[in-house]
Amino acid sequence: MSASPNAAQIAYWNGPIGQAWAKHQEKRDRDHAGITAPLMEWAAAKPNEAVLDIGCGAGTTTLMLAARVGPNGKAVGIDLSGPMLELARKRAEAARSNAQFVQADAAEYGFEKQVFDLGFSQLGVMFFADPVAAFVNIRRTLKKRARIAFACWRSPAEHLWASIPESTARPFLPAAPPADPNAPGRFSLRLPDRIKQVLGGAGFCAIEIEKLDARTFAGATPEEAASSVIDSGPLQRNLANADEATRQRVREAVTERLSAEVGPDGIFLTSAAWLVRALT
Ligand SMILES: C[S@@+](CC[C@H](N)C(=O)[O-])C[C@H]1O[C@@H](n2cnc3c(N)ncnc32)[C@H](O)[C@@H]1O
Repeated sequence: MSASPNAAQIAYWNGPIGQAWAKHQEKRDRDHAGITAPLMEWAAAKPNEAVLDIGCGAGTTTLMLAARVGPNGKAVGIDLSGPMLELARKRAEAARSNAQFVQADAAEYGFEKQVFDLGFSQLGVMFFADPVAAFVNIRRTLKKRARIAFACWRSPAEHLWASIPESTARPFLPAAPPADPNAPGRFSLRLPDRIKQVLGGAGFCAIEIEKLDARTFAGATPEEAASSVIDSGPLQRNLANADEATRQRVREAVTERLSAEVGPDGIFLTSAAWLVRALT
């Protein structure tokens, strides 16, 4: 897979981040629960449908979709990440689920044509080097008048889960060169116009976009919340190249900043997402 345009993402999701996501799968699922429930309703998978879960990670939503479509339906998860899919397969076996998993790049995979009623994704479609080409490839495996339904993040300014730790850490880290905001990454689909341009360019129609603010549990204490927000995202990658003293200073600063967010039930941060739906 290394000559792929998505090679950087393949390395990223098969490296320490992919391993950390697999290791902390239950925590990640709790973090995303405020997105998962409304997204499931938004996608509305029905009994007997065939569903493709794009960027399925450790398979939580694929297992849920498999339960929704039932024994005569089909739920297939596709993901780049070996560590997460290994866990997904174990979970499917333990749950006696008929969910299936494929390790491949959804942007390039040679899918069978027109087999799925629903393309679904929880936060797995923002990482394509060429998003229009990727959605064209995905659209080919959806039936005529099938739907795609996914969640993606809104802008970092609204998504406090990401922006609080990253802005707090910034003074301690070397200045990063200005990044292309549309480059593959969490926020590449942060603008509704871009979502429409990408999906429309790939041939989808009847595009609907709705705001979703989820209150996401970060931790019971500032220390726990700091570990959670640092270890689950790009900050971990930035800190991997920092010396121990810098890592410690960042952790202390993020912990202190998050202590301002402690409420009666612990620390909750806003996760700001779009729910998106379109037809083939
Ligand atoms: C933010 S995680 C979300 C995982 C899972 N859907 C969840 O909600 O826990 C993004 C996932 O998308 C996957 N991914 C990124 N680019 C992909 C691609 N081109 N094809 C397949 N999966 C991809 C990653 O490996 C990762 O598992």
